[in-house]
Amino acid sequence: MEITGQSAVVTGGGSGIGAGIAAYLAKLGAKVTVIDVDRAKVEAVAQAIGGHAVVADIADGPGGEAAFKSVRERFGAARILVNVAGILIPGRILGKDGPLPLEKFRKVIDVNLVGTFNMMRLAAADMAGLAPLADGERGVIIATSSIAAYEGQIGQAAYAASKAGLVGLTLPAARDLARSGIRVVTIAPGLVATPMMLTLPPDIQKSLTDAVPFPNRLVTQDEVARLCQHVIENVALNGEVIRLDGALRLAAK
Ligand SMILES: NC(=O)c1ccc[n+]([C@@H]2O[C@H](COP(=O)([O-])OP(=O)(O)OC[C@H]3O[C@@H](n4cnc5c(N)ncnc54)[C@H](O)[C@@H]3O)[C@@H](O)[C@H]2O)c1
Repeated sequence: MEITGQSAVVTGGGSGIGAGIAAYLAKLGAKVTVIDVDRAKVEAVAQAIGGHAVVADIADGPGGEAAFKSVRERFGAARILVNVAGILIPGRILGKDGPLPLEKFRKVIDVNLVGTFNMMRLAAADMAGLAPLADGERGVIIATSSIAAYEGQIGQAAYAASKAGLVGLTLPAARDLARSGIRVVTIAPGLVATPMMLTLPPDIQKSLTDAVPFPNRLVTQDEVARLCQHVIENVALNGEVIRLDGALRLAAK
């Protein structure tokens, strides 16, 4: 679909990749609502891009419903949802202090997988009520996985499992929502040049990028945003997971 003028929601838009995508979509003329748990960050981003800030935990049922109500009231029901919010709590299954606390594993699954699903189901309900565009398209939903879904590293059992859950969710979600004209596509970035990455000492950055075959550097936030743009605009893309990683395959550590 054409992006200009559409109501779009970006979760996790208070920081990093999400903030980059929110700004990029706003520049393309979308009316962007930024959802994040961090009030100060989400308000700063929304103000900078002329968007709408909503403070919400993506994994919370009632909080999510209130967030989409706020989207409808401000910009109308969203035709575009980009789920970017996610967390990483590292920890080996069996560490020096014993087994990984169950609540740590649950928390990561709750935010990354359940939270993404929560946003997806609520956005889809709104999209289904909109008039169809060309090809009968009503909306597009993008989830953010990671190449850790395929090559999770040591200490990443929870994170990798949550991101693999998103890979498994993509096709059935696309199939479920097809009758409403809603597409579902997942992006799986490699190592992205977020502010956090760029503040690492140069030698650590180099050790991270050494393994990237080509281009031998971090993926830029602009490249992730441009992939989202393409996914939104290309109606034939559906039910697929797209890696954006310079052919990187993560080693065990
Ligand atoms: N940075 C990378 O190299 C990389 C690589 C692959 C995948 N990813 C994925 O991309 C996404 C963004 O990564 P980033 O590096 O920009 O992270 P980040 O930490 O800079 O930003 C994540 C944002 O999500 C928000 N958030 C966290 N939990 C939330 C919740 N429950 N509800 C609402 N908002 C919440 C945070 O407040 C933060 O603003 C994550 O899903 C991450 O797993 C990142």
